[in-house]
Amino acid sequence: MKVISILGSKGGCGKTTLSHMLCYGLGLLGHRAAFVMTDIGREPPPQGKLPYVHADARNADAREKIISALKSREGWIGVVDGGANRPTVDLDVCRLSDLVLLPFRDSQEDLRVVCRDLERLPSALALPSQWPTNPWQYKASIRLLESFPEHLRHRVLAPVFAISASKLLLQDEPAERLPTSLNNACRAVARYFLAILEHGPEAIPAEQTALAAARRIERIVAAREEKNSRVGLHMA
Ligand SMILES: Nc1ncnc2c1ncn2[C@@H]1O[C@H](COP(=O)(O)OP(=O)(O)O)[C@@H](O)[C@H]1O
Ligand SMILES: [Mg+2]
Repeated sequence: MKVISILGSKGGCGKTTLSHMLCYGLGLLGHRAAFVMTDIGREPPPQGKLPYVHADARNADAREKIISALKSREGWIGVVDGGANRPTVDLDVCRLSDLVLLPFRDSQEDLRVVCRDLERLPSALALPSQWPTNPWQYKASIRLLESFPEHLRHRVLAPVFAISASKLLLQDEPAERLPTSLNNACRAVARYFLAILEHGPEAIPAEQTALAAARRIERIVAAREEKNSRVGLHMA
């Protein structure tokens, strides 16, 4: 099996939510996925009716055992949910992982932390997380992406956008039916990382890095704004 780990020093950047989104998306695509919890500061979430299993790997022994056991199971994908501020644990987990993602949010502070993590974990990839969808905020977020040091830019993936329904995956009683928008977002996330697992990070096409994706959306937003202003002129 393959192991995808979602790590990084910053708290609240979306590691746990993304881990669930990925497991759920993998489940929807027919893969067998395990959510591997390693954050000692949290209680395991209730195992709902969602199509993936949970494993409690909060202590170091359990972590090694569970990840190694899962690795030998054909056809499974393990998703390790990390905890913040644990550089040595992150290094250990990194060694057992096939793909390491470092989510970060749209802020200078997140950028500073993720740059340091990228330097420490040379195989990891940064992932813009909970990324703004509002066009104005989005424009500002592009400037943040442009401020990544040149030598790290190719390691920044296309963003996972904010989707408020993502919290439904962590409810005490997960809903019987989840919104189609969430299902689609989770499938897209799973497909994206499966492709990276299959082809390796060096095979990520340039157009799928954060900046290329950002510029593509910027062009779409600019075209829409131009169209709207023409409509406005016409109406005036
Ligand atoms: N893609 C997303 N869209 C909207 N909200 C999100 C998303 N990812 C995380 N959040 C919200 O951000 C907060 C922190 O997320 P969490 O997954 O707990 O981060 P971490 O595990 O890194 O501490 C939570 O309130 C969560 O609901
Ligand atoms: Mg967490």
